[in-house]
Amino acid sequence: MCGIVGCILQGSSEVAKVLRDALKSLEYRGYDSVGVAVCSEGRITVKKDAGKLEEVDRKLNLRGLKGSVGIGHTRWATHGRPSQENAHPHLDCTGTIAVAHNGIIENYSELRSELAARGHVFRSETDTEVVPHLVEEGLKRGLPLYEAFKQAVSRLEGSYALVMIAASSPSRIYFARKDSPLVLGLAKKACYVCSDIPAILSYTRDIVTLRNYDIGYIGVGELWIENLKLKAPVKRAPMRVTWSAEAAQKGGYPHFMLKEIHEQPTALRENSRISREQLEKMAKHVVDADNVLLIAAGTSYHACLAGAIQLLNYLRKPISAMISSEVQFMKPHIDSRTALIAVSQSGETMDTLKAMRYAREMGAKVLSIVNVFGSTIHRESDDTIVMFAGPEIGVAATKTFTAQVHTLSMLAVKAAELSGALDHGEAGKLNMQLREIWKAAGEVIRRSEIKAKSLAEYFARRHSCFYLGRGIGLPTALEGALKMKEIAYVHAEGYPAGESKHGPIALVEEGFPVVFIAPRDETRAKIAGNIEEMSARGAKPIIVCEDGDQLAEYTQPDCAFHIPPGYSPLFSPILYVLPLQLLAYYTAITRGYDPDKPRNLAKSVTVE
Ligand code: AGP
Repeated sequence: MCGIVGCILQGSSEVAKVLRDALKSLEYRGYDSVGVAVCSEGRITVKKDAGKLEEVDRKLNLRGLKGSVGIGHTRWATHGRPSQENAHPHLDCTGTIAVAHNGIIENYSELRSELAARGHVFRSETDTEVVPHLVEEGLKRGLPLYEAFKQAVSRLEGSYALVMIAASSPSRIYFARKDSPLVLGLAKKACYVCSDIPAILSYTRDIVTLRNYDIGYIGVGELWIENLKLKAPVKRAPMRVTWSAEAAQKGGYPHFMLKEIHEQPTALRENSRISREQLEKMAKHVVDADNVLLIAAGTSYHACLAGAIQLLNYLRKPISAMISSEVQFMKPHIDSRTALIAVSQSGETMDTLKAMRYAREMGAKVLSIVNVFGSTIHRESDDTIVMFAGPEIGVAATKTFTAQVHTLSMLAVKAAELSGALDHGEAGKLNMQLREIWKAAGEVIRRSEIKAKSLAEYFARRHSCFYLGRGIGLPTALEGALKMKEIAYVHAEGYPAGESKHGPIALVEEGFPVVFIAPRDETRAKIAGNIEEMSARGAKPIIVCEDGDQLAEYTQPDCAFHIPPGYSPLFSPILYVLPLQLLAYYTAITRGYDPDKPRNLAKSVTVE
């Protein structure tokens, strides 16, 4: 996720040093390019490139820039590859206005065409670059700088945290925010603008948090904020931050994993921004292929399983999910009529890359869904969808799993529409559910937290447990079990519920916890039978089911998690997994383990 910083120093020309250090402390957010713009003696100098801060600083000597006002940015690519041109800050045609931006400007292509028609020359592929050119346009029309900035911002659709400096106004930083965080830092002889509090905590603890549609400018001893929606000036009182920088990086959460669990509503909302063209392009490959093979490792494999079930629901052709490290040995049918979809959060998993290369040799069309733009899997694919989950730092995948299932759900609906399995109206209704599901995700997290915490006390004392599901409930069961074993070190088996009587049931004894995934679909009656079967042998059932479902009566109220209705059961992994992530997290905490640093595991597994 991109990081922004801006700073003005009084009586010092070392602003670039502050920007560099602040950007360093934003590194944890993940990025692929970096840049700074400093204003001095009526000129703006920009230094930027793809790569990590240390590398770019070594190459370009970012710190060597002299000036007292500047902005800096770490970029997590969304529009356009990581490159020198696409790195922020971006300039207008005259080179006197510099802008850095987090978020996505949805109407950038219309704005870009309009500005290009007026003679503006664009140097990058980014959505952001329209902003300095829009401001330049306003100045050409004779508007004062702040008015030109305001008018430019009012033309933007989408999300933004924006900072701007201008050579003509060297004692101010202009800012605006909508749906992307931005804070201001106040000090006696300096002021700061930043996307994230930790980056400026070593300079000031007096922070002003901006709200949606806030716009204004800041200078040393000067602050103007108004709200574009309220159409009025607003006062935002500073707060004194007392957290440590580390706690601040986690946004007040004790662990990245918990933060990322709570970020899922936002990640799902952002993920709806995957372009229709992109989805259509990939769905066309899926529809045109004779067979489809989804491959991945770990959590991403569970998302593949959900994706395969969704596609099978609509398309009449061979579709399967396979663990990527098995592809070369199981030798599934792959030829030039195969569409292979590799799913990977990091985009670097070696097992998945090897399976992709193997499939390519067999002639398959190689497609992928990744969360990291420019990753190896992205680069080696014929076509890719890059998700908008934002970087995931916790080793245990949480928000990337729900975003993967969300992406695959959108893909399945699009493929169903293209193939005629769904008409336009039916597809529209399902797409609406997928656009709105982030709200239900927030509701599930709110409802589940206390229950998960108290149930964790029980799980923390057990050696073993089962997670059972059928059909689309199975990937959720597998993922719930993986979370429990990888961070809480409780042996957890995810199993097809029907298969559990063919062996695993032998382990069940008094008080043995069994988690049942029970979306309201054709598997529900069978799951009810499995609950009875397990309960009769002394198991303690934990049930995840829809609001008002009588299945919950098979257990005590504090052992049932309730999911809001109104969403296709095919999308159920997105919501039903949330209580299981919380359960694993709190079990790890109760057992005294650090969920961000599970033993023997790495975030990105780049060996076979
Ligand atoms: C899940 O919590 C793990 N981090 C792991 O199973 C992971 O999903 C797997 O290693 C695949 O990683 P990828 O999505 O980056 O390819």
